[in-house]
Amino acid sequence: MATQKYSRITTKSIQEMKSNGEKIAMITSYDFTFAGLVDKAGVDIILVGDSASNVMAGHETTLPITLDQMIYHASSVVRAVNRALIVVDLPFGTYQSDSKEALRSAIRIMKESGAHAVKLEGGNQARESIERIIQAGIPVMGHLGLTPQSIYKFGSYSVRAKQAQEAEQLIKDSQMLQSIGCFGVVLEKIPAKLAEQASKSVNIPMIGIGAGTNVDGQVLVLHDMLGMNKEFSPRFLRRYADLDNLIHAAVNRYTLDVKSKSFPNEKEQY
Ligand code: KIV
Repeated sequence: MATQKYSRITTKSIQEMKSNGEKIAMITSYDFTFAGLVDKAGVDIILVGDSASNVMAGHETTLPITLDQMIYHASSVVRAVNRALIVVDLPFGTYQSDSKEALRSAIRIMKESGAHAVKLEGGNQARESIERIIQAGIPVMGHLGLTPQSIYKFGSYSVRAKQAQEAEQLIKDSQMLQSIGCFGVVLEKIPAKLAEQASKSVNIPMIGIGAGTNVDGQVLVLHDMLGMNKEFSPRFLRRYADLDNLIHAAVNRYTLDVKSKSFPNEKEQY
């Protein structure tokens, strides 16, 4: 178990972690079984990410996943978790058109899943929606840098904010998100130096993915770090297991046992 200082993680606990210099561990989950395992292993924040669109549904991008599908994943996670803070992504198309729609989407997630907070992508363009959601009492996590819901605008998943203008805007957006009340921000795939600068420029926790070490915490997609998705190999990804090979070998052995009639044996029947 990584840490048991907190029996239940809240937005206040992760703010304290930043103040005390304790790094924050965040990871994605999308279903009851994995969320229970992840929670027991001591992670601080579970993100029900719209990466479910990729790893659970097999879509090429995060764009197709719907609000109903996110609520289904989030409520499965909520039923398994006793300790971690649960943050749920607002999916593409549920908050961009106007702030009233954004609030309705956030309320549905909170009411129907029982999660603790929402995350949404974007800086200034998302400001009004974030303000309205926070005014309704719903904690919001921002997401800057590479924002996968805008993939067709960017044209690729390459590192963001390498140029001075975009880097300056990212710092301004980080400060703006703090000033309107976000409790944290995900920084995705930006230069490590810029991520450090952004993290130092605010008091709220900045959680990095492909953003180097000098941020307040890290987030990874569960299936990637467990080695279940061998095609995806960005530089920032560290694999902590090789479930692809483990699962392949186990299912292959089972299949051979069934074919050879060695499963079930006499002790495995009634
Ligand atoms: O959807 C997701 O998994 C995310 C992480 C990559 C931060 O937003």
